Amino acid sequence: MNEIIRNTQSSVTPTSLDPQDWSEFRALAHRMLDETIDSIANVRARPVWQPIPEGVRAGFKADVPREASDLADVYRDFSEHVAPYATGNVHPGFMGWVHGGGTAVGMVAEMLAAGLNANLGGRDHMPIEVERQIVDWMRSLFAFPESASGIFVTGTSMANLMAVLVARTSALGTLARQYGIGNDGALLTAYTSQAAHGCVSRAMDIAGLGTDALRKIDVDAGHRMDVAALRAQIAIDREVGFKPFLVVASAGTVDIGAIDDLRAIAQLCREEGIWFHVDGAFGALAILSPELAPLLGGVELADSIALDFHKWGQVPYDAGFLLVRDGEQHRQAFAQPAAYLRREARGLAAGAIWPCDLGPDLSRGFRALKTWFTLKTFGTDRLGAAITRSCALAKYLETRVLAEPRLELLAPVNLSIVCFRYRAAEEVNREIVADIQESGIAAPSSTTLDGRFAIRAAIVNHRTNESDIDALVAAVLEFGGRRTGGVIDVEAPPLAAQ
Ligand SMILES: Cc1ncc(COP(=O)(O)O)c(C=O)c1O
Repeated sequence: MNEIIRNTQSSVTPTSLDPQDWSEFRALAHRMLDETIDSIANVRARPVWQPIPEGVRAGFKADVPREASDLADVYRDFSEHVAPYATGNVHPGFMGWVHGGGTAVGMVAEMLAAGLNANLGGRDHMPIEVERQIVDWMRSLFAFPESASGIFVTGTSMANLMAVLVARTSALGTLARQYGIGNDGALLTAYTSQAAHGCVSRAMDIAGLGTDALRKIDVDAGHRMDVAALRAQIAIDREVGFKPFLVVASAGTVDIGAIDDLRAIAQLCREEGIWFHVDGAFGALAILSPELAPLLGGVELADSIALDFHKWGQVPYDAGFLLVRDGEQHRQAFAQPAAYLRREARGLAAGAIWPCDLGPDLSRGFRALKTWFTLKTFGTDRLGAAITRSCALAKYLETRVLAEPRLELLAPVNLSIVCFRYRAAEEVNREIVADIQESGIAAPSSTTLDGRFAIRAAIVNHRTNESDIDALVAAVLEFGGRRTGGVIDVEAPPLAAQ
């Protein structure tokens, strides 16, 4: 034990931002916690989403607050003007885009993380071990080797970008980090499907490789990458002197949740010596569901996997993650020596490799804690069961759509995404989506499939049940009827009959 003991009774620092009166702060903080818990527990009593009244939006604008305010007043401002107009994805009627619902457990874990105020860029402290623990769990779930590395990031857009950078460095060598991508880099080509998320193309842009170097391979009727076309495109590119270096497969496409043939693509990448990355933003956590995990066959062969705990993992935003098979290649893409970040054998600067060696961020928050609490508290079996259930609910919605002559299914139902339309013009369907969102009954989003506008329901929230699906269908029929006077367009047969 060190004999130099600190005086723990030091006087209050005049410039400290700590409360003057801890009891008063404690009482208010307890009220905030209680009210936040109430708002989650009673979420069904509120509209899913409501438009921000113009008065609220305008009244919210204010000058830089030079003077102090009472915490109670600031909290009232939040309660009245911010909280009621949030996205709504805590609500079980939220089915737009691919948004997780979060949990009360994740919420309190986030509070604990803020209390520690840990910086997870590096250094030797237990919060980093929490992150490493999750890296280990992910290694184990995806059957990656001991040498694999992983890191929390904002979301899969960032994880995909980092995977492109790791693959780029792997293809060009680490000198490219010093000299730039040069002539060799200009010849690199990457491959993904037409159905891939737009962030893959953006990653190519940001990585300096250019979006034209991303070949978007055709998909089959189920939105899965055509592997024969992929093989042919790689051959054509090699023939003319390009250097294919990366294939990004989707495990759950954003539009309809399709999963590419990961095993066949892995095999092709192995034959061709190409980096195989899986965008599993939405679908990778299907690995937790015994019923769905077989759909991901081949994911264990990937060189890297991107996924989001904030979607099907139900961890509060944000909690994206990148897993890389070869941890050393991962490190070589980002690690950089700096005197002020020197690693030591002992003391607080021990514990290399640090997370800042594995990504672009130096200062990083403790995203791992809310994920650790979520995984431990619920257990992966229960989280997997929620995932299985959301897919069963999607099947229920599919059944409702197929049974209703006024509705048309627009794509096969994969995982938990259902795309359909009211049998009327695109403008009507567009209005229906906005009508439903503004009604507060549900919050679907939309997309375009083969040139046709689709109402899109992605069932991700663990709170959603059959009554929420029924409410969505009833709302589509009600608003569709109001906008068309009940006249429907019966030209296209239901997908099931085609
Ligand atoms: C397949 C896919 N990839 C990438 C992303 C982007 O993920 P994030 O929003 O976490 O950056 C999404 C988002 O929905 C997605 O569905």
